[in-house]
Amino acid sequence: MSDTVLITGASSGIGAELALCFAREGSTIILTGRSPEGLAATADRVERAGCPRPRIIIADLANSAGVENLIGALGGCHIDVLVNNAGAGLHGPAVRLDRAAQLSLIDLNVRGAVDLALRFLPGMSEHRRGGVLFVASLAGFAPGGPDMAIYYATKAALLSFSDALSVETAGTGVTITALCPGPTATDFGNRAGFSAGSAVDAYGRMSAEDVAAIGHAAFRAGKRRAIPGWRNRLAHFFMKLAPRDFTLQAIGKAQAQRRKS
Ligand SMILES: NC(=O)c1ccc[n+]([C@@H]2O[C@H](COP(=O)([O-])OP(=O)(O)OC[C@H]3O[C@@H](n4cnc5c(N)ncnc54)[C@H](OP(=O)(O)O)[C@@H]3O)[C@@H](O)[C@H]2O)c1
Repeated sequence: MSDTVLITGASSGIGAELALCFAREGSTIILTGRSPEGLAATADRVERAGCPRPRIIIADLANSAGVENLIGALGGCHIDVLVNNAGAGLHGPAVRLDRAAQLSLIDLNVRGAVDLALRFLPGMSEHRRGGVLFVASLAGFAPGGPDMAIYYATKAALLSFSDALSVETAGTGVTITALCPGPTATDFGNRAGFSAGSAVDAYGRMSAEDVAAIGHAAFRAGKRRAIPGWRNRLAHFFMKLAPRDFTLQAIGKAQAQRRKS
């Protein structure tokens, strides 16, 4: 495979592992994120895996100037595959969390990802190949996420957008996949501000490596969605069956356990 693949949020966690998956198949990799050290560490890992060193572009995707900087740095380079992985969470009641930080989360998790998809999809359609891998979340299937209200809402929006795009592009040679992980062992929780010792996390966090491998395989197989791990697929199954209010209350209780005392 000799695609040019742009991976956002490639400085750590699932994004770094996805970079390795796409590099190992022989694609040309471009890594983006805010942390030069984190991106360099991912590039080192790709090189150590025997693949060419990826290009690095520093960009903050939580604001439109950052997206413009990324596009400018790409200088018209054709992107075959966009991996929209950059994302973050914020834990706590919405009324107590910082308003600007919550709005910035919407900009990063939704606006930035949608903006990039809309910029690269026309080129993909013209070439009749490639596609977008969205890293959404199991949270995207939930009726809401008390104590992570904005995060759940952003992932629901991303999943909805990804699903709709996958139907719009069906049969065009372009494929759209939403990877929907459950709890995964990365720095995400730390950054979001929740304690990792709760029942939600005890039920089994997957490794970022396994999650990325499943997402990569699903994208290459042209699947609309990938929910990694049987526990997450079971949770998805119950979310589909259970009354919306019941699930909402259950998620509220689980998220409350993540509060730091
Ligand atoms: N871990 C989980 O339990 C879990 C579960 C479901 C879904 N997810 C999703 O998986 C994706 C990856 O998260 P992760 O778990 O791998 O956590 P992570 O290790 O914290 O990775 C998040 C990535 O997003 C980048 N990022 C954050 N803010 C950014 C900004 N303003 N501009 C550009 N890049 C930014 C970070 O890079 P810089 O800091 O270098 O900017 C980092 O590379 C996210 O979309 C997350 O919502 C995670």
